[in-house]
Amino acid sequence: MPTQTIGIIVNGATGRIASTQHLANALVPIIREGGLPVGEQRLLPRLLLVGRAHSRLAAVARAHDIAHWTTDLDAALASPDHAIFFDAAATAQRVPTLQKAIAAGKHVYCEKPLAPSAQQALALLQAATARGLKHGIVEDKLHLPGMRKLLAVVKTGELGRLLGFRLEFGWWVFDGSDRTCQRPSWNYRAQGGGLILDMYPHWRYVIEGIIGRIVRLSSAAWTAVPERIDENGERYRVAVDDSAATLVKIEGGVFGTILSSWATRLRRDDLFTLQVDGTQGSALAGLHRCHVQPAKATPVIAHFNVMKDIGADYRQGWNEAPPLASYCNPYRAGWEQFLRHVADDAPLVCDFSAGARDVAFAHACLQSMAERAWIDMPQ
Ligand SMILES: NC(=O)c1ccc[n+]([C@@H]2O[C@H](COP(=O)([O-])OP(=O)(O)OC[C@H]3O[C@@H](n4cnc5c(N)ncnc54)[C@H](O)[C@@H]3O)[C@@H](O)[C@H]2O)c1
Repeated sequence: MPTQTIGIIVNGATGRIASTQHLANALVPIIREGGLPVGEQRLLPRLLLVGRAHSRLAAVARAHDIAHWTTDLDAALASPDHAIFFDAAATAQRVPTLQKAIAAGKHVYCEKPLAPSAQQALALLQAATARGLKHGIVEDKLHLPGMRKLLAVVKTGELGRLLGFRLEFGWWVFDGSDRTCQRPSWNYRAQGGGLILDMYPHWRYVIEGIIGRIVRLSSAAWTAVPERIDENGERYRVAVDDSAATLVKIEGGVFGTILSSWATRLRRDDLFTLQVDGTQGSALAGLHRCHVQPAKATPVIAHFNVMKDIGADYRQGWNEAPPLASYCNPYRAGWEQFLRHVADDAPLVCDFSAGARDVAFAHACLQSMAERAWIDMPQ
């Protein structure tokens, strides 16, 4: 099989998500395997890493045996050998960075959220389309084993008519005073931070991908932990939401709830769970597993027993969905789809129009909070 090289600029290469998922678990394995089979050829990524800190960038490049790296974004964008630009740097810089990449004629792939506002996201879509460039957004959560199993269960129709859903997400993020905060401080600042902007883009494509099109929502968001300590040991005021609750109406009448928080302690099956209830059964998925309770195994619950704890185990009567035949790292799955889209024109669901809708959902939730009203999701 002949090999075709494809140049990829990876911006924000020292960041948590770029260095772990996109490099270590996706692009580097594709390179080590000799490239991705696409049609009659193998597509071999040639990487150019971009970051701000010279020494950290050099260390990432060394760790992955990548020869080319630079702290000069403009020089990277001027390279004729790199047709793709990928952005996984902090969210606040995304719009100007993508604008530059589009102006330089690069195909663009990027982490979510595509932009801080729906208008900016649409403008990026228009700019990339006008120049005839390919565009894609990371929508990794639907590739998780738990979500793939849940989608398969919903698709069979075995749950009957869908009635409702419940999405729960979160864990405790330390404020930095006695234990180090597990998230970067920019997550809690006005430019690019906030749980809704960070996580709700995921919830849009998960809900619409598995349950149905969102038509309306009502949302509240708040700051549970108002002060934190940053990477330099400085105390700062949190400027954005770290917790949110949302009611969602789906086309056809299904309602659901979303509870998300970085200020909650876990006593759930997983960090992120989605339960879907139907007339013929319910399914509950986490990151990896999915359990189903069919109507015939549903316990008959008549009333509360207020006098005695009857010790019932409500986790009984749920069957675990079988393992997947094969599993690919979700970020690698996204890269494979995007590379096939660029090289072979394969269809891509998670393009910038999907990314713009992800942001529109987050934006509508913030608008609902500000106006204390139900908001129609833009079509
Ligand atoms: N798909 C997912 O599940 C997922 C998970 C985590 C993060 N993300 C997204 O990936 C992007 C990076 O997130 P991360 O958690 O890796 O962040 P991070 O703070 O670990 O990395 C950010 C990177 O951006 C660079 N950077 C450029 N300008 C910066 C600035 N002004 N302030 C701080 N850093 C700056 C940093 O040098 C660093 O390399 C964000 O857009 C985030 O929304 C997506």
